[in-house]
Amino acid sequence: MDNSNFNFSLINYSALFKNCIEIVNKYQSNKNLALGEICRLLNEKIDFYDWVGFYFLDENKKKLILQCFAGKPTEHKEIPIGKGICGQVAKTSKSLIISDVSKEKNYISCDIKVKSEIVVPIFVNHKNIGQIDVDSMKINAFDKNDENFLKQINKLISKNLFLD
Ligand code: SME
Repeated sequence: MDNSNFNFSLINYSALFKNCIEIVNKYQSNKNLALGEICRLLNEKIDFYDWVGFYFLDENKKKLILQCFAGKPTEHKEIPIGKGICGQVAKTSKSLIISDVSKEKNYISCDIKVKSEIVVPIFVNHKNIGQIDVDSMKINAFDKNDENFLKQINKLISKNLFLD
């Protein structure tokens, strides 16, 4: 039976969010480890989250720097503000859901197999400091549920790893 259409109903976002809380509590003193564990958790537990990474803004370089990820290694460890989907989110501070990356002009490809992408900014004291980026090999993989879920994770990270 092909149950690929039931992805969303099978994901227990609230259980995964609880796992994220456990991770930030366990690794509160090691931001990098906590972020890396969250990448691994989401990549492992949600089958269409094929690549998960955190980019943070380097204000001097005016670039996003990849801090940690789970999935295939990418050449794009630094992304200028305004370039690609990530760079646009750095510039506008608004989440982007791209249902079909082949239709985007301002897009940086990390893997030709990727079909859709979501990028959600991380705010600390209302300032956009970075973002979570998720790529999927499935077309039109992400919706508002994913956006809300990733927003909650980013709030958790902001509060527990950046403000403490
Ligand atoms: N696709 C992104 C680049 C980062 S990779 O997806 C890991 C973009 O267009 O900004």
